Amino acid sequence: GGNRRSRARCSDHCVGLLLRVSSLEPPLWKPPTPLRTLLHRIPVRTIFESHPEDGVSAIAISQDAKYLATISAGTRVCVWKWTLPTEKPMCSTELRPEFGHQEYVIFNPQNPREFVSNSKTQVIFYLWVSRDIGRMLSASATPTFNSVVGHFSQSVFHFNNSQALTGTSAGKLVVWDVVGPHTPSKELQAKPHSMKATKLVPMQKDSLTVLKVYESCIVTGDVKGQVKFYDGQLQFLTCYSRSKVGPIRSISFSKTPPDPPSASPSDSSNSVSLTLNRNFILSTSDATVLRVATDRTNFEKVMEEAKKAVNAVACHPRQALVAVGSDCGLLKVWDYQQTKHLVSRIFTEAGIQCLSYDPQGYFLAAGFTDGSVYILDAISLQSSCREFKFSRGPITHISFSHDSEYFATADEKYSVTVYKSVLQNGSRRWEHLAGLHSHYKPIRSILFGVQLDSNEPRLLSLGEDRQLVEYDLNSSSKDHLVVLHRDRIEQMAVPLCLAWYPQLSTESFILTANNRYKMKLYNTTTKMCR
Ligand SMILES: *[C@@H]1O[C@H](CO)[C@@H](O)[C@H](O)[C@H]1NC(C)=O
Ligand SMILES: *[C@@H]1O[C@H](CO)[C@@H](O)[C@H](O)[C@H]1NC(C)=O
Ligand SMILES: *[C@@H]1O[C@H](CO)[C@@H](O)[C@H](O)[C@H]1NC(C)=O
Ligand SMILES: *[C@@H]1O[C@H](CO)[C@@H](O)[C@H](O)[C@H]1NC(C)=O
Repeated sequence: GGNRRSRARCSDHCVGLLLRVSSLEPPLWKPPTPLRTLLHRIPVRTIFESHPEDGVSAIAISQDAKYLATISAGTRVCVWKWTLPTEKPMCSTELRPEFGHQEYVIFNPQNPREFVSNSKTQVIFYLWVSRDIGRMLSASATPTFNSVVGHFSQSVFHFNNSQALTGTSAGKLVVWDVVGPHTPSKELQAKPHSMKATKLVPMQKDSLTVLKVYESCIVTGDVKGQVKFYDGQLQFLTCYSRSKVGPIRSISFSKTPPDPPSASPSDSSNSVSLTLNRNFILSTSDATVLRVATDRTNFEKVMEEAKKAVNAVACHPRQALVAVGSDCGLLKVWDYQQTKHLVSRIFTEAGIQCLSYDPQGYFLAAGFTDGSVYILDAISLQSSCREFKFSRGPITHISFSHDSEYFATADEKYSVTVYKSVLQNGSRRWEHLAGLHSHYKPIRSILFGVQLDSNEPRLLSLGEDRQLVEYDLNSSSKDHLVVLHRDRIEQMAVPLCLAWYPQLSTESFILTANNRYKMKLYNTTTKMCR
């Protein structure tokens, strides 16, 4: 977004509205790192508590950049004149709950007093009246056609007449128009109520996900990643597509023509390509941003983020680096002070479940859903040795000892596996030492510490089976992990996590928290609850 025509979008849980009403300068894709450009924007006005109960689920800005329409995740619709120093909307209305969760809203570019929103099943037209602030008329429209309409995705006002259009998951466009006698004096009040579905136009087989008006074109985006352009009578003009582009979530046009004017202005025979001489940016629901150069039909990846859940985050112990791992196998390292993406690696075999840097920050260990463990160089993310495959279930925890002599993993099959470092030709390597099926319910923590009387590491694990297990690393040998102590630390409650308590007195403690909202201190030697 960023230019006057585009909408800001907010998550369901956003309470304030951040607004920057000026053009992006320089244009979004000029610098090699577009995200940085965005992050350098500053908010010029923040409306806190716009929808304190439910948060904002849809937002639009009017063509003249004066007004905002917001819709809460509940039923409230507000219009704001954002330059006013008040925290109150100019007008608002409540929708009937049966209209459904309104997911999209857009102003009529020709009239800032008019806007339309839609849920999956209802389209609602609004008119607010400046002379009579506080009044807002709305009318809902459900189409009545004898064929499958599908779920509504997005709506737009036609650029050239009184129509509005809504795209559907059945690949159709619903055409809405003012029906009934025109009585100009009453039009203001009557218009929202007289918008009726007049036509259902089948456009294509695939679901339409995005609908836009750009100059004198109707633009659609779909689940196959195709962008199609139509004229005002919905005659097909052109299509931009490339394989492996995910479902389109948004389309944003450049405000300026491409740098070297590639389409020669004298080429009047092809007025379509002249009209479309604007590059655009697509975002897709698989978290990719693409730039499309219309003169070359060229799709260029601007950024790619995690398509699935982010399961793992680890901070570098010495530098401003954060590693982020996703279920889709994408591992990314960012410099969080410069907000700069440094390096990434995609693992195709399995998803990343957990990450941990070693205490010196030379290595990054990654645990995967297929039970494999990779030790990566912290800078390049290259594997520093062959991956380990000693766990039979997804790795849930991974941790290094303070001296990097050991690292250990816990997995979903209730096993703890320990790896020991060896010096090989002057460089550090890890070797599998031993594993043990030491719990019979999910493991909640593995914790390295330091022996009280020496600088040797110690290792504990805690499971939902209420067992706190301490291992004897010194006596363990290849394929033989020795248990030093096994203590049942709860009777009824289930322990959930484990940490070292700071040494505040002469006695040293382990801190646990359980599912009965209790924290407990245990003597680190006797494991007695204090
Ligand atoms: C608007 O509609 C009129 C009449 O339907 C047509 O002649 C005109 O070309 C249209 N304008 C644009 C920009 O499409
Ligand atoms: C260690 O270095 C020697 C000599 O450079 C080499 O022959 C040997 O293969 C190396 N060992 C390993 C395990 O890399
Ligand atoms: C570890 O074992 C070695 C010999 O096997 C012994 O000398 C050392 O004291 C032990 N360390 C600890 C902390 O028990
Ligand atoms: C554990 O408790 C015993 C008995 O109260 C005490 O002597 C010992 O110092 C405690 N251990 C630690 C590590 O604080």
